[in-house]
Amino acid sequence: MGLRHAGAPAIMTVSNAPPSSRRGLHVITWGCQMNVYDSARMSDVLRPLGYQPVDLPDSADMIILNTCHIRDKAAEKVFSELGRLRKIKEARKENGEQTIIAVAGCVAQAEGQEILTRAPYVDIVLGPQTYHRLPEMVARAARAGGAVIDTEFPAEQKFDFLPDTAAPQTPGNYTAFLTIQEGCDKFCSFCVVPYTRGAESSRSVTSVLAEAKRMADSGVREICLLGQNVNAYHGEGPDGQVWTLARLAATLADIAGILRIRYMTSHPRDMDDSLITAHRDLPALMPFLHLPVQAGSDRILQAMNRGHTADDYRDIVRRLREVRPDLALSSDFIVGHPGETDEDFEATMQLVRDVRFALAYSFKYSQRPGTPAAGAPFQVPEDVKDTRLQALQALLREQQDAFNDTLVGQTIPVLFTGEGRKPGQITGRSPWLQPVHVSGPRHLIGQELPVRITERLTNSLGGILVEETVYA
Ligand code: SAH
Ligand code: SF4
Ligand code: F3S
Repeated sequence: MGLRHAGAPAIMTVSNAPPSSRRGLHVITWGCQMNVYDSARMSDVLRPLGYQPVDLPDSADMIILNTCHIRDKAAEKVFSELGRLRKIKEARKENGEQTIIAVAGCVAQAEGQEILTRAPYVDIVLGPQTYHRLPEMVARAARAGGAVIDTEFPAEQKFDFLPDTAAPQTPGNYTAFLTIQEGCDKFCSFCVVPYTRGAESSRSVTSVLAEAKRMADSGVREICLLGQNVNAYHGEGPDGQVWTLARLAATLADIAGILRIRYMTSHPRDMDDSLITAHRDLPALMPFLHLPVQAGSDRILQAMNRGHTADDYRDIVRRLREVRPDLALSSDFIVGHPGETDEDFEATMQLVRDVRFALAYSFKYSQRPGTPAAGAPFQVPEDVKDTRLQALQALLREQQDAFNDTLVGQTIPVLFTGEGRKPGQITGRSPWLQPVHVSGPRHLIGQELPVRITERLTNSLGGILVEETVYA
């Protein structure tokens, strides 16, 4: 999975299309893991129409820009990328080739009309909940020659209309994302997600299990369950009962071939006892949890509408570590939320010192149109945000290095997922998500094997296969 976070660009290439009537599809993905998953599913939906992935937009008959609205000048970034794609479309037109440009994802949901007004060469605008209707939209766009917009929150669940696919969505065949929950009802003061993704909803257990089985059959060994609030999962089970994430994870762990299960992103408020206990009882559940806290000051947590205090968070962490002592945590932080004083920021630093994180993402608060905090008084000046961010990131970096140092000398299970950067190297992933590089033969890729960690690199680990002579 390679923890790709909101804002980091990714380019999806998914294969398998009928060889006849081949058309090129280029998908550009920005944003969170759910967008990565969605991009793969959009490719699935278009495959029966003959669309196959191509690496360059220049040779694509259709280009999808899957966008993120979470921070900064999201819309402006989209328009500048669209300017580039327009040139490609015009150049192809001169060669007599048609190009369909589609804008998908959270900016499309939030600013669909604006996109069509400012970029009339865009053919399709679709939100995150309507991409099962893409084939129909493509047909309509081709027929009418005008733009098609579909940013509804339809009554039907798109998952019930998506084609089955055996292809794992993430690069490499051994790890995959699987969306089980979507949307958010929490309405944090700063966040656009409830508006772009809609209300919380959970996929049915049957549909999740079927997709997980297909993944396992196609070679996937590690599944990361995705949701905007994944631990708020409450899917309908085959027994007619509502299943929790803990119950779902336990059943997924029984699927032959599935060695590892992760889930993200969790909200502290939904970290219930059954899930905490699952970290004790379910060896497949990896001892690594992404649990965003955002801030360490109760005043700011309240202003953010997070619904818990800093001590509530400390308490959840304590209970998790009680049942699973090797559990490592990662988190998200926002500095400079409206009203944040030096004292509030110090409370965030103190929380970080108390909890000790293995990994973290930290951001300067970014005013998002339409969210409550955007219009709040006491916006924090940019230079203050910069200073706070630097201080926080320095502390988090220290903690990440310290955590990785604790693994040097230990023997840990590594799931090998691909070739390394250097010849003769293979690379894999530890239970705590760090990439691990070792010298070893390619045929070990796809297996989970013990590795003795010998060195810490900047964001990864180096090691040796414990039974090197056996495997060589
Ligand atoms: N559902 C998750 C977060 C989804 S958004 C949760 O509740 O934690 C991913 C991260 O982006 C958030 O955790 C937050 O740290 C950051 N983020 C969201 N809105 C932001 C904003 N307006 N400014 C800065 N960072 C923001
Ligand atoms: Fe955004 Fe808060 Fe919902 Fe997370 S819980 S997606 S931060 S509103
Ligand atoms: Fe971005 Fe939407 Fe994900 S705003 S972080 S792509 S849910």
